[in-house]
Amino acid sequence: EKGNYRHFMEKEIHDQPEGCQRTIAAYVDTLTAHTAIPGEVDWARLERVQIVACGTSYIAGLMGKYLIEQLADLPVDVEIASEFRYRQPALRKDALAIAMSQSGETADTLAALRFCQAKGMMTAAVVNAVESTMAREVDVVWPIHCGPEIGVASTKAFTAQVSVLTAVAVAAARARGRIDEAEEQRLVRVLLEAPRLIAESIKLEEAVRSIALDVSRARDVLYLGRGPMYPLALEGALKLKEISYIHAEGYAAGELKHGPIALVDEQTPIVILAPFDSYFEKSASNMQEVMARGGQVIFITDPEGERHAPAGARVVVTAPKCDPLIAPLVLSAPVQLLAYHVAVCKGADVDQPRNLAKSVTVE
Ligand code: M6R
Repeated sequence: EKGNYRHFMEKEIHDQPEGCQRTIAAYVDTLTAHTAIPGEVDWARLERVQIVACGTSYIAGLMGKYLIEQLADLPVDVEIASEFRYRQPALRKDALAIAMSQSGETADTLAALRFCQAKGMMTAAVVNAVESTMAREVDVVWPIHCGPEIGVASTKAFTAQVSVLTAVAVAAARARGRIDEAEEQRLVRVLLEAPRLIAESIKLEEAVRSIALDVSRARDVLYLGRGPMYPLALEGALKLKEISYIHAEGYAAGELKHGPIALVDEQTPIVILAPFDSYFEKSASNMQEVMARGGQVIFITDPEGERHAPAGARVVVTAPKCDPLIAPLVLSAPVQLLAYHVAVCKGADVDQPRNLAKSVTVE
């Protein structure tokens, strides 16, 4: 039940520290700080990973690609299931197929999964519903443990999915000899810190709420990010358009000059996601470019990023300092809360947005 919250979505945003904590605990050994991924995947010999999914689950998969390729040097393809199933993808048996799905019932994702099975690939599914069709049909089930998600806009399932793929990335990196045991343990300890830092990040709710009314008057909103903040930019835009019906686009910040900058004017809020990581300077210069055209920047960063940010942002939202490994998890909360409070300002039906269903079992 909703408890003291107005909507399931708000409750589910607040459930995330616990949902991630339970999920992470299922993929690491908390005593030895090693990863412990269920199933007989031979990470060292694996040539490729193929992720298939829809919507927010697709975006979680894209986040997984950034993490797995960077840490484990293992090629990952991520594809929208409805595209994947109808074109003729070039698949190899020695790849692992991973379906990402909260419900485990999404028609296109299920069809894509069956397609991979028919090609002789090993299959895994990251699902919330462990009784679902996908969970029954795959070789390995990787459950998320965030509890049932009621709000149509996915929030806690997203961070739990990203938690699983983060643990997978660390495990694959170790098995493939890309990191040593000490580094594996360091990264696992970092991951175990995520729930506490997500809880800190949720405390930004008031700061985010204070800009929601302004944003609710916008016609278009742009979300920009680089590296793992690019998938989060996509997720921010999807969340906002789903529940507030404001047109929003997520873009790789480097694409700004290749089109979206034409949208920027004094009325356009631009959410820039930029913790102080190796991409920061580039994102900061994108920020200057949009401000020079009158864009109203909402800068979501961390304490070091706040110190180095160019002056002139409409508002700076400062998430807690964290290791880059878990920045996608920690920065998710303000992004979700912004969409939520903008939708509330607009008086929208947050848990049951128009035209949308929680589980899309027809294509
Ligand atoms: O149950 P699934 O994870 O397979 O669902 C996939 C999408 O339908 C879902 O993520 C959708 O995009 C959400 N409404 C996003 O908030």
